[in-house]
Amino acid sequence: MDVFKNIIATKIAQATDLKIEQIKSYIEIPKGNENGDYAFPCFRLAKELRKAPPVIAQEIAEKVLVNNINNAIDKIEVTGGYVNFFINKEEMAKQILANFSNQGQYGSSKIGQGKNVVIDYSAPNIAKPFHIGHLRTTVLGGALYNIYKYLGYNAIGLNYLGDYGTQFGKLIEGYKRWGNEYKIDEDPINELMKIYIRINALCKEDEKVLEACRGNFKKLEDGDPYCVELWEKFKKVSIKEFQKIYDLLGSKFDSWDGEAKIAPKAKEVIKILEENGTLIQSQGAKIVDLENEGISTPCMIQKSDGSTTYASRDLAAIMYRAKTYDFDKALYVTSYEQILHFKQVFSVAKHLGIDDKYVKGLEHVSYGMVMLPTGKMSTREGNIVKIEDLLNESIKRAEEIIAHKNPELENKEEIAKKVGVGAIIFSNLSTSRVKDITFDWNAILNFQGETGPYIQYTYVRTQSVLKKSGYIPEIAEVSFEWLTDNYSQEVLKLICKFEEILEQVTQKEEPAILAHYLIDLAKAYSSFYNENKIIGENEEIQNTRVYLTRATGEVLKIGAKLLGMEMPEKM
Ligand code: ARG
Repeated sequence: MDVFKNIIATKIAQATDLKIEQIKSYIEIPKGNENGDYAFPCFRLAKELRKAPPVIAQEIAEKVLVNNINNAIDKIEVTGGYVNFFINKEEMAKQILANFSNQGQYGSSKIGQGKNVVIDYSAPNIAKPFHIGHLRTTVLGGALYNIYKYLGYNAIGLNYLGDYGTQFGKLIEGYKRWGNEYKIDEDPINELMKIYIRINALCKEDEKVLEACRGNFKKLEDGDPYCVELWEKFKKVSIKEFQKIYDLLGSKFDSWDGEAKIAPKAKEVIKILEENGTLIQSQGAKIVDLENEGISTPCMIQKSDGSTTYASRDLAAIMYRAKTYDFDKALYVTSYEQILHFKQVFSVAKHLGIDDKYVKGLEHVSYGMVMLPTGKMSTREGNIVKIEDLLNESIKRAEEIIAHKNPELENKEEIAKKVGVGAIIFSNLSTSRVKDITFDWNAILNFQGETGPYIQYTYVRTQSVLKKSGYIPEIAEVSFEWLTDNYSQEVLKLICKFEEILEQVTQKEEPAILAHYLIDLAKAYSSFYNENKIIGENEEIQNTRVYLTRATGEVLKIGAKLLGMEMPEKM
């Protein structure tokens, strides 16, 4: 918790009619040192108070001053419409580090207590490649999952597998015909894809084959043992493949219930929408017209052959999740290609008769594409990069770099895994999610750039300082007067901001905020390290700087872990 923000907000609240929480949300942390450590902008009050912002600022400053400053605030200044607060530097160091030493889990909180957040992420499709877009949702959703949990929410990670649809009727037909020609157990996804492409071609030539495929799907829905057995086999071999990627990334889910589990519940959705007159017939299909909601494409609920749709299954899943998890928020982490889909689904959800709280809790967390320098990395058709290969390539490259930099290092393989995987995870998170990413090996593995390896490298540096010092001091051995220089203060201020950064991530569903923060902290520590002698000063100074080093290392490690990255102790 930011103690000074609290102190300042309390003082401003005493001087005005504003509520503390509102004041806190207005308070800014100015860049640079000349405008103080905290600033309160008065622009938004101007209309209400019918005064110019500088006048309001002046009045607040005077009242706060009269209100007697305790030793936390050194000085208050008014510039333009801002009241600037200068915190006593020693006091700043003391408060921040005292707060730090009290908590084993720095930055964690209970603000989410009693709130349920379901996060739908990863969700690859059975018998289809796990593509680079799935990597991004896996990493983004995983980071959100960790951060929500750390803030005390009851986070529930859902891997809503794409294991349902008419294509499985085709796959079954292809397998029946040529299954033994393909090495499904060796390379399941590629081989199943080949079967799928082949049967699709045949369907185009021969209407009878297509009929057979439809028949298979119907049988699958009706629980025919042979069709179900094949479908289960496809599912099993696919999950085994996906699991290799999840193992590398450290991804965890609380539920693997896919579309197939939900599909039978879509009947209920259709019944509700039919009864309340929302559903209309259109060329044999059933749709919901959303023209009135400003969405020109209607939402298809049932196909003309009577089967459920992606949308109707998502609607059924909303009802199911509301009942099962009583969610306060339901996040869907998918690429922006699905923006229309979720707009439609969330609009139709208003007509399901569920509590409004659930409808309000629905949120599409969309993200941009990942491109190779030559263009889009994965398309529906091809040009597909195998994600497992991508991760292993990154590990291999990391190992080469490490071996070059530090030939003596032990356990290179294990460290390379952390660095290589960390580099990929960080590159997926450090760009704000709505933006497209261009993938570039040199950029993501640059130890000096704004990368995962740079954060790991800085952490390793903090650990080697601790090792060299040979002694980790207690807070009582810290002399705060040695932390008043700008470099130490910069590190301290960032450490102080950590919890707020995590809250911001959950307000915007944006792990990039944490990624940037960690870069800032690593940079600030590097400057501190370059400008201040840590080891070999007198004992008091050394203890103090080692203490700050320990704190920085801990925040870097916790932050990286929340993003899904492991820290090496050496590299
Ligand atoms: N399986 C889908 C895909 O790969 C993503 C599913 C996202 N979640 C959902 N509830 N629709 O595109």
